[in-house]
Amino acid sequence: MKNLLITGGAGFIGSNFIRHILQLKPDVFITNLDALTYAGNLVNLSDLPDSANYEFVHGNINDTKLLKTIFNDKKIDTVVNFAAESHVDRSILNPAAFVETNILGTYSLLNVAHEAWKHRMNSVGGEEFRFHHISTDEVYGSLQPDDTPFNEYSRYDPRSPYSASKASSDHLVRAYHHTYHLPITITNCSNNYGPYQHPEKFIPMMIINAIQGKRLPIYGDGLQVRDWIHVSDHCEAIYRVLLNGLNGATYNLGSGSEHTNLEIAGLICDTLDTLLPNSVGESRQKLLQHIPDRPGHDRRYAMDITFVKENLGWQPAISLTDGIMQTVKWYLEHIHWIEEITKNADFSRWVQLNYDGRDERTI
Ligand code: NAD
Ligand code: TYD
Repeated sequence: MKNLLITGGAGFIGSNFIRHILQLKPDVFITNLDALTYAGNLVNLSDLPDSANYEFVHGNINDTKLLKTIFNDKKIDTVVNFAAESHVDRSILNPAAFVETNILGTYSLLNVAHEAWKHRMNSVGGEEFRFHHISTDEVYGSLQPDDTPFNEYSRYDPRSPYSASKASSDHLVRAYHHTYHLPITITNCSNNYGPYQHPEKFIPMMIINAIQGKRLPIYGDGLQVRDWIHVSDHCEAIYRVLLNGLNGATYNLGSGSEHTNLEIAGLICDTLDTLLPNSVGESRQKLLQHIPDRPGHDRRYAMDITFVKENLGWQPAISLTDGIMQTVKWYLEHIHWIEEITKNADFSRWVQLNYDGRDERTI
């Protein structure tokens, strides 16, 4: 790994991953290709140390011409594909963007990577090449309470336009490996949280609204279960897969700690009450408000991480309580970042579209 192409590096996980790599591998040259959609923002990277080994390129993974130039000029030997439309609620309202980026974008990136890899094989020897694709636990569908967690052999059963588009991209990546022998790895990870996550997502939405004393919207009964992992644990797992992952392999990643949305929202309120008691000493749990459920809402996700533990010695290091404490502190210390992201007209339009007008029930 000498010349790394990171796509979607101005988003939540991608920006954390760039920081991770610059710290651990300062000798690697990183090209960050990002279209800067509503979810991508260069303020997510404003604290990057000055590095001659980092370059940002504003562009789209569907732009084949641009991709060819990048692969050629930067002599890319490793791709980490984070670029995606990533929010389930938005996929319900506008599936087209998900097909465009997650399926067609991954396809165009695979094609150019495949050409570049063949070219490298013929010139400098192409063994040192890897296309790493970032995916999600949601491709496996929804678990019943008594089901065992998903492993790498679980059947794909995506249920939202988001998870269907991610499943499709995973299949394309595997197809390029089996058909053309392109060296690939895939990681399917559970729900992430941590610094720089867009406030449309559950945990930052809860933290930011709780800081601002606004209602905390809980979809349906709030008993849906997720396997929350801190983003830095996810980044370390990707790094290990890049270094030592088996060619063609898929690794399931997660924290192994399952919690309902109500438990997570409650933990956030309690953490914030400890760090910043409100003026009248009231618990912020009073702000919780059930609103009508998301259509097709998956009930439970959980990941079996035995394979990655045994094969790569990776396991998550950050407990949920420590991770939430760190994350709430981070948002409190980055009020300017919150203002910067939420002042975007797209965000207020989104809040209006997704939340306002829903029939509200207070608990
Ligand atoms: P994000 O929405 O925060 O960031 C996505 C980034 O991709 C943004 O910077 C955006 O500008 C960029 N992008 C979008 N379309 C693009 C295009 N056509 N060309 C170039 N750039 C484009 O998402 P995230 O939460 O950081 O997720 C990153 C990846 O991880 C996604 O592939 C997602 O499916 C996957 N994933 C996310 C989670 C999670 O909990 N957030 C969990 C598992 C897997
Ligand atoms: P989200 O962060 O959108 O991730 P995903 O749908 O990919 O798991 O949502 C996490 C959970 O939180 C999910 O069960 C939906 C729920 N949720 C709410 O209850 N209220 C909210 O305002 C949001 C954004 C999500």
